[in-house]
Amino acid sequence: MNFDFTEEQLMIRQAARDYAQRELIKDAIERDDKAIFPDRHIKNLAELGFLGMLVGTKYDGGGMDTVSYVLAIEEISKVDSSVGVIISVNNSLVCFGIEAYGTEDQKEKWLKPLARGEKIGAFLLSEPGCGSDATSQKTTAIDMGDHYILNGVKNWITNGNSASTYIVIAQTHKELGHKGINAILVDRNAPGISVGVHENKMGMRSSDTHSVEFADVKVPKENRLGEDGFGFKFAMKTLEGGRIGIAAQALGLASGAYELAVKYAKERKTFGTEIINHQAIAFKLADMATEIEAARFLCLKAAWLKDQDKPYGNASAMAKLYAAETAMKVTTEAVQIHGGYGYVKDYHVERLMRDAKLTQIYEGTSEIQKIVISRAIIMGDL
Ligand code: CAA
Repeated sequence: MNFDFTEEQLMIRQAARDYAQRELIKDAIERDDKAIFPDRHIKNLAELGFLGMLVGTKYDGGGMDTVSYVLAIEEISKVDSSVGVIISVNNSLVCFGIEAYGTEDQKEKWLKPLARGEKIGAFLLSEPGCGSDATSQKTTAIDMGDHYILNGVKNWITNGNSASTYIVIAQTHKELGHKGINAILVDRNAPGISVGVHENKMGMRSSDTHSVEFADVKVPKENRLGEDGFGFKFAMKTLEGGRIGIAAQALGLASGAYELAVKYAKERKTFGTEIINHQAIAFKLADMATEIEAARFLCLKAAWLKDQDKPYGNASAMAKLYAAETAMKVTTEAVQIHGGYGYVKDYHVERLMRDAKLTQIYEGTSEIQKIVISRAIIMGDL
């Protein structure tokens, strides 16, 4: 078994690290405080190729592998996980779905601008009464022959306002349950779409989260992704990869908080010595380092399976579950190690702790990952 990264993977990690440590760090606290979308950074990161890094070069993407993606998202999320989620949603939930299941025309029209980072995408699955229970879609896409008419409300949409391209999951044949759901590409500027208020979130405040309402929105039939009724499976397949991105984001939050905690523990003195020399602190750091390494291996394993075209749904659920739980635990411990300084905004760790909470919630809560994993155990797949 080879644990070495390739030269290319190391270069990609270094590029992400350099940008995060030099640029994202400068205004991360202010953007969090004022909930400012990172427009300038997204433009720069698009130029560096990160917005469409997983997309093949044929469609103007970076043609990079999923292992590189994990390395890059970790580095970016160490400093600013709001930027991490914007890149992750664009790559994993939007570009992946179009590249894997779209027609050549759809790839030409919708995928290429997203892969170049000229446009941003959003994935519209959750609804006010349906997040985890994803088959209970209330949004309808009524089949009118050559077009669909969309009605309904989507909630908690990452990139909800900044995105130009939406993938909307909606019910076409209610009587067929999950087999009646479709995934449809929608131009955010189509008449009848209204974007709701910016959610005032606890964390990830620099990423924009909105509800989106559809009132008699006319969408050409050619915008449907896959066969009629493929929408639920499309969503599930897409989320399998999305969870690798969120796992990497959680990993970044944990490793970013850990690095800050080690630095602080080496500087801060109590009882005549640096606090890292107190076993109470050193043992915390030992646990944090071990759990981060375990989370990293789970993320890389899921990424590697995807790169090998092997099934990765169970591995991505495990990676997301463990990395998110680790992020919450490690960021909380990092605040504890910082003492009072950890509780004020200047020291970054309180932001990382607030951000970590969301990794246990979106793209399937920790409980949803346990459903996926336990079903695989029952089926004899694990
Ligand atoms: N791949 C392919 N097909 C799959 C699949 C997968 N991973 N998972 C399920 N399916 C198929 C099943 O085989 C079944 O098909 P058949 O009837 O043909 O056999 C069909 O889908 C229905 O499957 P289930 O009966 O297992 O469905 P379920 O209703 O019990 O749900 C679930 C399973 C795992 C709980 C699923 O609903 C789920 O993952 N829910 C969470 C959704 C989620 O992650 N929401 C987050 C919103 S997105 C977001 O947060 C984006 C953002 O902005 C950051």
